[in-house]
Amino acid sequence: VDVDPSAYEHGPVDGRPRMYTEMLEQPASVERALRGRLDERFATAHLGGLDMDARELRAVRRVKILGCGSAYYVGQMGASLVEELARIPADAEAASEFRYRDPVIEPDTLYVAVSQSGETIDTLLAVQEIRRKGGRVIGLVNVVGSAIARACDGGIYLHAGPEIAVASTKALTTMFVGFALLALQLGRVRDLSVADGRRLVAGLQSLPAQIEQVLGDEERIARAAASLATAESLFFVGRVRGYPVAREGAQKFKEISYRHAEAYQMSELKHGPLALVSPEVPTVALVPDDELTDRNVAALHEIDARGGPLVVVTHAGVDLGELRAERIDVPRNERELDPLLLTVPLQLLAYHAALTLGHDVDKPRNLAKSVTVE
Ligand code: G6P
Repeated sequence: VDVDPSAYEHGPVDGRPRMYTEMLEQPASVERALRGRLDERFATAHLGGLDMDARELRAVRRVKILGCGSAYYVGQMGASLVEELARIPADAEAASEFRYRDPVIEPDTLYVAVSQSGETIDTLLAVQEIRRKGGRVIGLVNVVGSAIARACDGGIYLHAGPEIAVASTKALTTMFVGFALLALQLGRVRDLSVADGRRLVAGLQSLPAQIEQVLGDEERIARAAASLATAESLFFVGRVRGYPVAREGAQKFKEISYRHAEAYQMSELKHGPLALVSPEVPTVALVPDDELTDRNVAALHEIDARGGPLVVVTHAGVDLGELRAERIDVPRNERELDPLLLTVPLQLLAYHAALTLGHDVDKPRNLAKSVTVE
């Protein structure tokens, strides 16, 4: 795996914050995460490190994903991928909670621990709890030879390269790719068709160039960020595939801009948060072109009618009607892969909001890159 050796040094690169250079590395890191793992002929993925044959993969009845912070949110995106492509029930849980509820460990569940550093104590203790009770755990880990990687039965290295900034960007997008590969492989040993497999392989291959395209829209995103930075509080909303993206977007915004940002399912707006919507409380909405677009646009009209400022991350061609909104279009890919391309503008949004507010984005107050003690 070729990584730029200067990437091992800490601190800014060419006067640019680390988070910025890491965001820009995403096309290359996603490319590395995919390298050698796609099989066009059989329209599938090969993850040798899983150490599971087709019979073992077919025997999986449930997938349970564990991670903390951004890794937990990308785990939720991963659970959707597994359900959609492999039709195996899947969910994600905060690893920091898991061991405290004496979890039931099932032999036909595949447990997946996801971690950039591979050293997060809560995730490591969750892995140990599962193994102690006889479960099988695989790791989606960036740092080779780290404690979590060693504690798992097998796994997938992310090959994102060293990530130094506290706010995770390139590790996070490679985690998504790792889940997509896992879901594809699980799907193809079950009922996912060759045609669907091909569709996903091609979709994954186009991700690096598409991420580049989103990053090229920085100026527009920076303008939207400046308009959000003055708000004390804001919502991030999405549905189904878009909801974990909203959670991750809110997390990034909080971490580095120190503004209160809360994620909500768009469908839940009318069950509470609409009470808070006003010209002082903006909303960032994820509206991909999918089965839910019309419902999402209708919900945004409710916000607009109450004077709530809107930034909408969507696809070209989605008709927002008369909505007053700042619009950010991301490239189209296969719907299952939408979360990755929707996530990238939210990284830039948080980054530029933090810069506008004069914060040190690489060293957010009160936070550590990895939390290794209880
Ligand atoms: C810390 C960081 C988060 C990160 C989480 C999990 O809380 O501040 O940004 O997402 O740990 O880290 P990991 O290394 O396990 O992915």
